[in-house]
Amino acid sequence: MTSDGRRIGLHTSTKLDFEDLVALVNRGLELSRGGSAKSFAGRNVILAFFENSTRTKVSFEVASTHLGMTAINFDITGSSLSKGESVKDTAETLASYDPSLFVVRSKESGLSQLFEDWTGIPTINAGDGEHEHPTQAILDITTLVERFGSLEALEGLRMAIVGDVLHSRVARSLTQLADLCGIEVSFLGPDNMMPKYIFPNVNRHSSFEVERYDVLYLLRIQRERLAHGEALEVNKYRSRFSLTKERAVHLRPAQVIMHPGPVFPGMEIDAPLIDATNSLIRRQTEISIFARMAIVEAVLEGSIGG
Ligand code: CP
Repeated sequence: MTSDGRRIGLHTSTKLDFEDLVALVNRGLELSRGGSAKSFAGRNVILAFFENSTRTKVSFEVASTHLGMTAINFDITGSSLSKGESVKDTAETLASYDPSLFVVRSKESGLSQLFEDWTGIPTINAGDGEHEHPTQAILDITTLVERFGSLEALEGLRMAIVGDVLHSRVARSLTQLADLCGIEVSFLGPDNMMPKYIFPNVNRHSSFEVERYDVLYLLRIQRERLAHGEALEVNKYRSRFSLTKERAVHLRPAQVIMHPGPVFPGMEIDAPLIDATNSLIRRQTEISIFARMAIVEAVLEGSIGG
């Protein structure tokens, strides 16, 4: 909440403190176990996705419907943006239709904050460029708490974030929240996918020895974000950083595999491992509805924001 009492949305995980995270995780898990949802009947949420999405968009639509809201999908391709209307004019026009909330995804960093600044309407960042994806990180921590039993149980876990960390908004948001929980994070990946200036205290490991970690968090290789002319050597990547069947032989039952999706089987992970007993990948998708319900409730009630 701002000093003048105006509600604000969620743009970055850096503005969440441990108490915010505890409240969101506990509420998400309560909802996942059949707890009753709050009702925001008669209120609208506009989903403005300027970049493609399956999981985030649909789970926000389902979550807001469970909360009694009307979810309006703003169709970018059929909009007047194609006639040259600016994004700012688009946001201001959408604000005229009385939404209580915007959920915004963009190729550029910072658009969710701009939506909120332009319109004064609370806005949730559903992934902005290479910046942040805070709701993915919240649902990931919620999934881990369900598996390990409590937030306290996450302290001291060792998490490997593997792959294209440099271009990953998920890695940025998750590393912040993992740090709040006392999880020890290591980045693994090719040199050209490693961030040089952010998270100087995170470990960097150049070989993927799966036994070293409790949580193997695999990232999608973002071909669309690789610099022009930057080739991806698939076989070289697979031999060093993929969770292959050969590497998975060394997994213990307590170790978990995660991935934010979309997954490319055979690249980050061998296909049979997606549904292995160690894998939380499907559970992340299921939990996302309840985590996002908790986030929407909190934003509409003004109890978190950043
Ligand atoms: N994890 C994630 O953001 O997936 P989508 O791009 O399908 O929303």
